[in-house]
Amino acid sequence: MKVIWNDEIVERSEVKIDMEDRGYQFADGIYDVVRAYNGKFFTLNEHVDRLFSSAEKIELRLPFTKEKLKEMLSELIKINNIDTGNVYMQVTRGIGIPRNHPYPDPEEVSPVFTATTTIVARDQEKMDRGMSALIVPDLRWLRCDIKSISLLGNIMAKHEAHKKGADEAILHREGIVTECSSSNVWMIKNDTIYTHPDGNLVLPGITKLVLLRVAQNAGLSVKEEAFTLEDLKKSDEVFASSTTMEAMPITSIDGNPVGTGQRGPVVKKLQQLYVDAVENECGKVR
Ligand SMILES: Cc1ncc(COP(=O)(O)O)c(C=O)c1O
Repeated sequence: MKVIWNDEIVERSEVKIDMEDRGYQFADGIYDVVRAYNGKFFTLNEHVDRLFSSAEKIELRLPFTKEKLKEMLSELIKINNIDTGNVYMQVTRGIGIPRNHPYPDPEEVSPVFTATTTIVARDQEKMDRGMSALIVPDLRWLRCDIKSISLLGNIMAKHEAHKKGADEAILHREGIVTECSSSNVWMIKNDTIYTHPDGNLVLPGITKLVLLRVAQNAGLSVKEEAFTLEDLKKSDEVFASSTTMEAMPITSIDGNPVGTGQRGPVVKKLQQLYVDAVENECGKVR
């Protein structure tokens, strides 16, 4: 498998990252993940825009244009023969010597970019069956809108969930549900679909963006409105959304069934609308 390292496509073993890289030292960097179906990217523009927006929020000057980045990523999936899979891209601020917290002068530092691919098929059986979740306090920082490589808060929550046998962690701040450890979270009550609004407490998910658009176009009732743990417990359906999971039903929370304990009709409808959107851009999904 080849990877991108700065502006070159090389073997992964050729990549050398300096131990004084600020990504390694301070988690001073950002990332994004985009998915390809049938060898074609889905919502590439939106993912590239979000990477640029994360970079701007931490005053990191990216060493390429959006067009150049899209070209490099397209070349990478072609070379690696990715049919259905994910591309993970990461940029750090670069080498900072001597180690010092403030951002170095952008003229004196070169950001380091890497991108890797993984082949990951759609798990239709899991999307039908759904997954389990555990409620965990949201202990992360207050700039969750930045897709930062500093993910300790997220991985600690996911680890907590896994230790208790659950697939995902649903995070809350003083009883207000924010998102999951690696996905946005949604609830459905009386045929209205709710998810936390964008802002500094959640990642502006691209899957969320697509689902909001397709749901509105289909005339479904959708509200970008925060909800509480109490609302969640009384909801009819719950699901998580992300680039890699699409719309994934959550059928049990803290060991208790959500609604009937099976995937509900609204999530099923949203899954179909999402697949329609993917097929519009990338052709028939398998
Ligand atoms: C914390 C968090 N929220 C939400 C998402 C979903 O974002 P997207 O739909 O763009 O994959 C992710 C995806 O990685 C995430 O890590």
